[in-house]
Amino acid sequence: MPAVSLEQLISLCKRRGIVYPGSEIYGGLQGLYDYGPVGVELKNNLINSWWRTNVYERDDMEGLDSAVLMNPLTWKYSGHEETFVDPLVDCRDCNARWRADQIRDTCLDCGSKNLTDPRPFNLMFKTQVGPVADENAFAYLRPETAQGIFVNFNNVLTTTARKLPFGIAQVGKGFRNEINPRNFLFRVREFDMMEIEFFVHPGTEDEWHERWLHDRLSWYQNIGVSRDHIKIYDVPSKDLAHYSKKTYDLMYRYPTLGYEEIEGIASRSDFDLGSHTRYQDKYDLNAKVMANPDSTSRLSYFDPQTNKHLIPFVIEPSAGVGRCLLAVLSEAYDEPMVKAPPEDKLSMVAKELEAFNAAVAKNKKLKSDVQESLLAFGEDIRRELPETMPRIEALLAMPGADRISQGKKLRNQSQKVIDDHYRTVLHLKPHLAPVKVAVFPLKRTDGNLVGTAKQIRKSLQTGGKIRTVYDDTGAIGKLYRRQDEIGTPFCVTVDYQSLDDQTVTIRDRDTMAQERISIDELKTYVEEKLED
Ligand code: GAP
Repeated sequence: MPAVSLEQLISLCKRRGIVYPGSEIYGGLQGLYDYGPVGVELKNNLINSWWRTNVYERDDMEGLDSAVLMNPLTWKYSGHEETFVDPLVDCRDCNARWRADQIRDTCLDCGSKNLTDPRPFNLMFKTQVGPVADENAFAYLRPETAQGIFVNFNNVLTTTARKLPFGIAQVGKGFRNEINPRNFLFRVREFDMMEIEFFVHPGTEDEWHERWLHDRLSWYQNIGVSRDHIKIYDVPSKDLAHYSKKTYDLMYRYPTLGYEEIEGIASRSDFDLGSHTRYQDKYDLNAKVMANPDSTSRLSYFDPQTNKHLIPFVIEPSAGVGRCLLAVLSEAYDEPMVKAPPEDKLSMVAKELEAFNAAVAKNKKLKSDVQESLLAFGEDIRRELPETMPRIEALLAMPGADRISQGKKLRNQSQKVIDDHYRTVLHLKPHLAPVKVAVFPLKRTDGNLVGTAKQIRKSLQTGGKIRTVYDDTGAIGKLYRRQDEIGTPFCVTVDYQSLDDQTVTIRDRDTMAQERISIDELKTYVEEKLED
């Protein structure tokens, strides 16, 4: 069952070293996160899966890695200086700042309606380039990687001799000075983007748009995101970005947030290549672009069929890595009951939960939206006990829960029952799992068991395909639980029998079934099972 609350994922991410708040020891910086030891592996695996599917497994794609800082003229002609803005309002009573389209004319901090008129706020960060701080020595941190692809169009074309249709893929950081970063990784100020600019003959763009929609939906299935949890939103023309002729937004059903954009697939016409081209009047451009006396080049394609230069049209699938990672975590998340808790313990937890919910309902100091969310989630959990018991942890981590004194008692009653009767497991696709195999010795004080386990780890890791870790920091049950939480498909235990007959037990993450196999066959066994 996927996650039901964002808090479940936030708590798991923190507990298991997937994602930490950025520069936490100094109080953090809003909208910035760091990927921990487990998170970096998951993120890299996700990016590799995207790259493999879109670059290696196709014969019409090239890769690129362009610089984050670009000549500021790029952003003038791309339209970002003028139009990459959100409407900003200030609360005159408490000075909070909001994005006008995210609040309903009411300050979310103090409830005041005394707000300024919205004014445009450009989301691009500026930085200084070089030692002299005059007004011309600035650059923007790129808000999208796409422009790095467009300005390199001629370079890629001439160095690869590609013919239309073909695409260029890039993965890299994007920066946006979001007015209200929120919802964990969902809206942040620095994030990794996976973008494709696919260049096609004018007139074929609609057909390619549909093909890319289909291809991108298959990739989401390939990374374990159910098709049933993605809706396709055909963006109405009044809401299209300045460059877009038509856009499909893929909307994923995020826990807590509901359907929100995970990826945009835009048909950008000849806007970008046209904008960055010097002699625009030589072409019959479809898009409205500003005259460009600054560019030194024409970003056109010589069509051997017609013997004419043309400006290709572009289809752009563009996804944020963080939003994909959240979706993958959400889909993989599960908290099954391993054995039913005894009646007396169950009724104690139920009683404390009831008391907690009642205290939330009575509390007059909570903001109404916070109170409603706490109460709705608390009641959902109570109605479906015992299956829902592990969700109490997420409930107690929600905003406002720390102000309910009954929370402490609820935690005391539930924690041990949850630990003893449930497990958290990520049913990640094996190719995304941060660790593929964990190896444990039955006893960490026995040199022979430890030596054999370390040898197995080394031999599985050799070749670089099977990320394998050794762990002896707890009892085997606890070690299984830790690996389940980060989605490790297999755990191998070395016991005394292993020393006699060179076999080990291998445990499957999803079924928890264990089998005994020979150490010699372990690598082939794991390799075969990981081919998913
Ligand atoms: N080049 C096209 C482009 O930048 P976009 O819809 O603005 O399009 C593409 O961004 C994707 O980047 C979005 O679908 C989303 O997944 C991700 N994204 C955008 N803003 C984000 C933010 N502030 N935090 C996290 N991800 C974001």
